[in-house]
Amino acid sequence: MSTTSTKPTLSADLTVGEIVAAWPTLARVFEQLKVDYCCGGKRPLRQVCTELRLDPVSVVALLQASVDALASAAGSELDVSAYSLTELADHIERTHHAYVKAELPRLCEMADRVARKHSWRDERLVDVAETTLALAAEMFSHMDKEEKILFPLVRQIERGASDQFHCGSIANPIRQMEDEHESAGQAVARLRELTDGFAPAEDACNTHRALLAGLAEFESDLHRHVHKENNILFPRTLQVAGNN
Ligand SMILES: [Fe+2]
Ligand SMILES: [Fe+2]
Repeated sequence: MSTTSTKPTLSADLTVGEIVAAWPTLARVFEQLKVDYCCGGKRPLRQVCTELRLDPVSVVALLQASVDALASAAGSELDVSAYSLTELADHIERTHHAYVKAELPRLCEMADRVARKHSWRDERLVDVAETTLALAAEMFSHMDKEEKILFPLVRQIERGASDQFHCGSIANPIRQMEDEHESAGQAVARLRELTDGFAPAEDACNTHRALLAGLAEFESDLHRHVHKENNILFPRTLQVAGNN
């Protein structure tokens, strides 16, 4: 069963999470403007603009122009807004979780190698390796909880089960997952800071360059991953649970 949804009208009164849920291609524009749309997705665009000293009217115009320009562009971000809860949980596992499981061990290994070889000229590389390793441990445990506990509950709720489980309401594990997203988001922000925005020095070796490119891609995937959970899967699950 698929839930259909009508697109809202693009305005500064929508939250940034609602905006990316309705127009996934705008994630790129928000990334350029340094707008946090995943963990900070519940804030209205107007409030975010005030915080970043941006004019909301210009930002909405920019977003609208991007929607118009990207609407027919090939390779635009997959629109999951019409997915059922089960389809969305399956999609997240098949794409984002599979990517994290394949990519993080590779990034940890490269970060360790780069730190051992080059930390004599940039000691922050030790911190990069440690932060990547800690992030990997956190992400593996986090995804395990989603795959073994939360997502099965989401699928049960969609099939009409009650919201009351032995661990209490599903709102509790959802809140815990959101806290863990916040923590992973902070780790990735720290990696960005430690690497000057994932920018390689002119004389950086190939492994160092591959590490930075991999971390930048990881950040981008994490934003989309967390956005789909925080702004689409979790609020819709709570909504369905409330009606069961
Ligand atoms: Fe996840
Ligand atoms: Fe998650």
